[in-house]
Amino acid sequence: MIGTGYVGLTTGACFAKIGHEVICVDNDSNKIETLNSGKMPIYEPGLHDIVKEMVTAHRLSFTTDIKTAVHNSTVCFIAVGTPPRGKGEPDLAYVENVAREIATSMEEYLLIVEKSTVPVQTHKWIRTTIERYNRTGTPFDVASNPEFLREGSAVNDFLNPDRIVIGVESDRASDLMKEIYKPLNAPIVITDSASAELIKHASNAFLAMKISFANALAVVCEASGADVHQVTCGMGMDKRIGPSFLDAGIGYGGFCFPKDLRAFIHIAEELGYDFKLLREVENINNEMKLRFIRKIQSVLWNLQNKNIGVLGLSFKPDTDDMRFAPSIDIIAELVHKGAHVRAYDPKAMERARKIIPGIEFCSKAEDVAEDADILLLLTEWSEFKQLDLTKLKKRMRVPIICDGRNMLKRTEIEKQGFTYLGVGR
Ligand code: UGA
Repeated sequence: MIGTGYVGLTTGACFAKIGHEVICVDNDSNKIETLNSGKMPIYEPGLHDIVKEMVTAHRLSFTTDIKTAVHNSTVCFIAVGTPPRGKGEPDLAYVENVAREIATSMEEYLLIVEKSTVPVQTHKWIRTTIERYNRTGTPFDVASNPEFLREGSAVNDFLNPDRIVIGVESDRASDLMKEIYKPLNAPIVITDSASAELIKHASNAFLAMKISFANALAVVCEASGADVHQVTCGMGMDKRIGPSFLDAGIGYGGFCFPKDLRAFIHIAEELGYDFKLLREVENINNEMKLRFIRKIQSVLWNLQNKNIGVLGLSFKPDTDDMRFAPSIDIIAELVHKGAHVRAYDPKAMERARKIIPGIEFCSKAEDVAEDADILLLLTEWSEFKQLDLTKLKKRMRVPIICDGRNMLKRTEIEKQGFTYLGVGR
């Protein structure tokens, strides 16, 4: 498994868990040292235990030495980053470098599998690169096996997938991939490589579209006196629509949806199609943060010198990931408008400190309420549902809660004497 980010580390550890021997490779020696010393470079529920168990069972190891890893493997997954460039097109330099290193290291048949999210047709470039740089004519196959892991539930998603998508060009590769995933006993979809690559981008784009639809609907609900939650529940009971990914709020964030949507729009453009629908999905998502700020202003009037308590910073619960978290833009705008912000997050404080300047970080959730003119809920961590509202109210200057994730029950909050603002309700 080359690349030990969220995807590579989770997938590698879980492959070991289902019975394989896995060597995880990364060129970041600090990360490999961290992992070899028994520590985790990221927080992902359940992952640390699996890593410990598998290292002890000698089924999982970590190294910076790609050559030895390739020599000792039948299948080699590429799970390195594909970060966005200027116009959103993914930077495939890491993928190419790894393909070259594999090419110069392999001595026997190798199945090379792209796990990273890549533009359609990348498998062809990987194939060409390996053919060019492997001078010994070693036989190989290239397969595409996109991941559908969600941060925060990645282990469970790996062990209980809705489907496993495998894009292959040969029976040998297909048989090997089926064998690898056999212990999961999950539905397997075999496609050609280009289709597998597109399934990944299309799935993330479609999910982002569902969220933006719910958010646009929330605006209409708010203006008409309807409740978006009730509307989406009613819609979601139709099997053709489904109930998930229809939660309105402050918009989607994280390292996948914003980046993958940009990339997919760019890929379509390169192929001669202007995917306007997806541009609008992005616009709606960006607007939700501005609307949230306007909502705060509609109750506080001026933000200059107002004390604002923020609960939740990570882009979603059960992760310490701050990448493209809506909290970053929202807090920056509040600070820009002169507000004093105190914030708390159960897991993301360390990362948040490095990227959110000019605010105070509190060690307990209740402390953000001190003299606050409003409390904002930006991530739906379950511990926020257990907060003692009476205690919070006593510490606040004005009891207003603005719930950017619609996680609290309006009637209960209002019963305790708070003014409650949700999204689309
Ligand atoms: C997403 C996909 O769900 C995974 O299938 C995929 O493998 C992954 O991207 C990836 O490409 O690597 P992830 O970004 O970890 O996973 O998190 P999600 O649970 O999908 O949430 C994404 C964002 O959407 C979060 O900010 C979340 O708060 C927001 N969201 C989600 C909503 O605003 N409303 C919803 O109804 C659902």
